[in-house]
Amino acid sequence: MKQKTVFVCQNCGNEFGKWMGKCTACGAWNTIVEETVQISVGKSKSAVREPQVERLHEVKIEAEDRISTCSNELDRVLGGGLVRGSMVLVGGEPGIGKSTLLLQICTALEKSAKVLYVTGEESKQQIKLRADRIGMDDPDVLLLAETDIEVILSAIEKEKPGVVIIDSVQTMLHSDYSGTPGSVGQVRGVTMELMRVAKEKGISFFLVGHVTKEGSIAGPRILEHMVDAVLYFEGERHQSYRILRAVKNRYGSTNEIGVFEMKDNGLQEVENPSLTMLSGRPEGVSGSAVTCMMEGTRPLLAEIQALVSTTGFGIPRRMANGMDYNRVNLIIAVLEKRLGLSMQNQDSYVNIVGGIRIDETAADLAVACAVASSSKNLVIPSDTVILGEIGLTGEVRGISQAERRVSEIKNLGFTRCILPATNAKDIKATGITLVPVKTVKEAMDALA
Ligand code: TYD
Ligand code: MG
Repeated sequence: MKQKTVFVCQNCGNEFGKWMGKCTACGAWNTIVEETVQISVGKSKSAVREPQVERLHEVKIEAEDRISTCSNELDRVLGGGLVRGSMVLVGGEPGIGKSTLLLQICTALEKSAKVLYVTGEESKQQIKLRADRIGMDDPDVLLLAETDIEVILSAIEKEKPGVVIIDSVQTMLHSDYSGTPGSVGQVRGVTMELMRVAKEKGISFFLVGHVTKEGSIAGPRILEHMVDAVLYFEGERHQSYRILRAVKNRYGSTNEIGVFEMKDNGLQEVENPSLTMLSGRPEGVSGSAVTCMMEGTRPLLAEIQALVSTTGFGIPRRMANGMDYNRVNLIIAVLEKRLGLSMQNQDSYVNIVGGIRIDETAADLAVACAVASSSKNLVIPSDTVILGEIGLTGEVRGISQAERRVSEIKNLGFTRCILPATNAKDIKATGITLVPVKTVKEAMDALA
């Protein structure tokens, strides 16, 4: 073994020969840290294994052995349960509910496999308190409060669990690698070590990784390519809804999401997210519009609220919560130019209710209608859902998966849907009135 010093960017993981103030690969400042790595020299001939080359058509496929987590939402995101011997990274901001979710599924997992929960952040007592709080009765989960990977590996050797939960990867330390816990070198080394055990012994791992809003903390981002599946737990910390999203899955689709609600007794699955998102919707007031967004393959109805009020002093304020700020500005500009809506001395606020985020342009028209509705003090009928993307000339452009959305809208009891004319001609729906529109103006006329 020989030691070598390298300089690693804690943001992107690139290695350099010398220290620099700015990473030339990702452009981040002050992220380069010195680390020592061991390189083995002069490996003897016998140490090299025989290569196992096979013909592709001769490769045997074994049926994937999946363990159900008994959480429909999590199973769906995993692609039908946890695959034996796979490594799943569960990422998310601190406090979002990663530990809670993993502790909750222990009860179900333990029916089919021995579960070892390794905590590097909390004491065993804290875990016990949380287990009591979420109402786990007599869980037979093995607990280990440890941060030394070698000790953890020996516990795995001794207890032979089928599923291991590592909470969190940023607290773990392996003495063969340099750096403090949470540094790129450690996180990568620890994961490599665990990955080897996962594949050798067929043990499934859940790896918890914290990320900040900017995603800048070392760890999860650079781990994404190493692990089998990456799930991100998202949501506003102070709002109760949480969305679990697969961003990578070697054993399933990445289009799936799971929806949860954080309650006093832990995370509850939300089986009908649309209904939940719309609960408590005000009726008969201006500035509220309903749209249907797609979360992967799943249609999800969301309420968009807008408030337009006269600016009291100085420059008008604009705010977008749950949506891209620039997109909202663009939509308002289109409204000013094409509908003659006067917004110069108006403050405008747009909010997506329920703490979810819409990154889809299919919600444009609903945002426009909500803003116009508030501005003109005109109520949008509560049985109407609005779909469509807006172009700069004020045209309403087609959206993807319109049929799926319309069928969800109908299922939830809405009777009218304003949608792009290009989409309307392909949809054969009964029991719901489709109002095809070509321009923003036509949509407004349909609402008036
Ligand atoms: P936690 O699972 O510790 O988050 P993470 O592991 O992602 O850092 O979740 C902590 C938050 O969840 C904390 O702010 C309290 C809240 N919570 C509830 O609201 N209800 C509950 O039953 C539990 C266990 C936690
Ligand atoms: Mg935690």
